[in-house]
Amino acid sequence: MSSSYGEVYTSWRDNPEGFWMEQAAAIDWFTKPETAFEPDLGAYGKWFPDGVTNTCHNCLDRHVAAGRGEQAAIIYDSPITGAKRTISYTAMLAEVEAFAGALSDKGVGKGDRVVIYMPMVPEAVVAMLACARLGAIHSVVFGGFAATELATRIEDSHAKLIVTASCGIEPGRIIAYKPLLDAAIEHSHHKPEATIVFQRQEHRCDLIEGRDFDYAALIEANAGRKTPCTPVLATDPLYVLYTSGTTGQPKGVVRDNGGHMAALHWSMHAIYDVKPGEVFWAASDIGWVVGHSYIVYAPLLHGNTTILFEGKPVGTPDAGTFWRVISEHKVAALFTAPTAFRAIRKEDPQGSLVKDYDMSGFRALFLAGERADPDTIQWAERILDVPVIDHWWQTETGWTIAGNPMGLGLLPVKYGSPAVPMPGYDVQVLDDAGHPVSSGTLGNIVVKLPLPPGCLPTLWNAEDRFRDAYLMEFPGYYKTADAGFIDEDGYLFIMARTDDIINVAGHRLSTGGMEEAVSGHPDVVECAVIGIADAMKGQIPAGFIVINNGHGRSDDDVEKEVVKLVRDQIGPVAAFKTVMVVKRLPKTRSGKILRATMQKIADGQDWKMPATIDDPGILDEIAEVLAERGIKTKSD
Ligand code: COA
Ligand code: AMP
Repeated sequence: MSSSYGEVYTSWRDNPEGFWMEQAAAIDWFTKPETAFEPDLGAYGKWFPDGVTNTCHNCLDRHVAAGRGEQAAIIYDSPITGAKRTISYTAMLAEVEAFAGALSDKGVGKGDRVVIYMPMVPEAVVAMLACARLGAIHSVVFGGFAATELATRIEDSHAKLIVTASCGIEPGRIIAYKPLLDAAIEHSHHKPEATIVFQRQEHRCDLIEGRDFDYAALIEANAGRKTPCTPVLATDPLYVLYTSGTTGQPKGVVRDNGGHMAALHWSMHAIYDVKPGEVFWAASDIGWVVGHSYIVYAPLLHGNTTILFEGKPVGTPDAGTFWRVISEHKVAALFTAPTAFRAIRKEDPQGSLVKDYDMSGFRALFLAGERADPDTIQWAERILDVPVIDHWWQTETGWTIAGNPMGLGLLPVKYGSPAVPMPGYDVQVLDDAGHPVSSGTLGNIVVKLPLPPGCLPTLWNAEDRFRDAYLMEFPGYYKTADAGFIDEDGYLFIMARTDDIINVAGHRLSTGGMEEAVSGHPDVVECAVIGIADAMKGQIPAGFIVINNGHGRSDDDVEKEVVKLVRDQIGPVAAFKTVMVVKRLPKTRSGKILRATMQKIADGQDWKMPATIDDPGILDEIAEVLAERGIKTKSD
């Protein structure tokens, strides 16, 4: 008999260690853990400290051994190139073993870092799993980041080797990766020993003799090679994934092996309600945490078939592409960001393209990565006629903090809320002084320590930063940096970030990082970047710059140069296209820029003149500049 959410949450609360030991029993161990949790290790304790395992074994070998070898592990569907390929568990294992052999010949072993800078191709997943097989730590960098961002990650991780592709493909343009990679290596003080390049037929690149190696040639040379799985401690890192922090220096979120597997495996049946053998699709990118957890690791750990989709929700070729993939590959559940649905709705407001496809096997849509607005959820419910489930989590946690667990029986939906905390998370709301607030009152959302398995134990090479950023402000709790409230039924509502992170098309970006790039322009004296509401992307960045007039260039020219600077330094994914020259920035008397008030004005929300403002007239000037650009504003 299956248990309900309430029973399962209570069973976790009553015996957290027993609960997670039970989940850990669902994966294979070389040495089974005897201790569930050791509070004295690391910043807040570690899960399964005496367990020895290997994540690649659990994703591939054990399924092949259990007779799942002929089942598709990956269906690669690339409407942007026209390519489609189905790769069985057996074939995937063979390619991963060959590539792991090639990596170890290049000196990659347990604990070494490997940067993977690749588009959505199966070879990227092979590279991730080959690292896991060797106990090496991968760090995947999203293709939409510029060379400088890539360099920061190579440098911080001290990558021994880089795996890349000759190009990525965006609608209407080919992005040559090699020049970006070469520039990043040039820029980084740390130099990797070698790079391995997967040559795509859409655009081949030149290889540097002695440093760059051809992926296909290595696979061929190592075909049939058996490369064993390296035993690792459950607490050893599986990967580092960099995410935006409050400065230009990204945070290297560390994920371990054992806790990660136990939590993700549990999530596949309890939250997503899929059975081994079914097809699961996360329409994201392997460069983001959703891609790590739900394109690669969770579906493979659970014996599902995962879809690797290289395309966009619209324009590749049309707004029916998601429905085509769902019907063609018999997808049981789809996970994506609300933005994708807003984009589809804009193109096909009635959702009429759904009718062209057989969606009978499709059971649920899951949304995360940004706030899911009720309007979008209700539209998706109408056109798809399946449950549409919002759930809230972060790169740091790696899996759901709060959601509506379909596998445990759906709870009533409250639009605007990602529902209730998952087992493992004791979510509370505190005021700025650290006191609990009453239900319905807005405050800082925190999670009582310890965090459950799967969540970050630390930041790469930055334990102090980890403590400072997440653990210090509210002792005994993990700070999510989201603000919100819990209602009288225990449902969470996520309202805003408490730091300078913005969410652009489900992509997490730091306005502080953008300000650092903008200030690099020689004519910019001062700047502020804020996130403003956007009907499709949720938020987009908008920059305000004060410039010196000494160089005799027009405002227009400087604005264009600043846009280019951010694109070159952070990458196109920043979607930084709106920048405005202003005479002055609004500040408090102590010199703090009033970003929150500027944002309210830009979003057309009610706002109050801050009592501490230095010169109230400046806010009117800001409102005028915004109105000139057609950005909706509201005066005091
Ligand atoms: N490599 C290189 N460039 C990339 C890239 C990649 N992997 N991904 C995006 N970019 C570029 C885009 O081409 C675009 O460039 P442009 O300014 O020249 O047009 C820019 O980065 C912004 O990209 P994006 O935010 O994706 O906007 P878009 O207008 O191209 O597409 C959506 C809008 C809604 C279709 C798209 O954001 C989407 O599919 N979102 C789904 C949500 C998602 O995957 N979220 C991830 C976390 S779950
Ligand atoms: P990322 O680390 O990129 O996954 O971004 C995490 C942040 O995205 C969270 O801290 C939230 O601010 C936001 N977020 C993610 N999912 C949701 C959701 N379902 N509702 C509201 N905000 C969300």
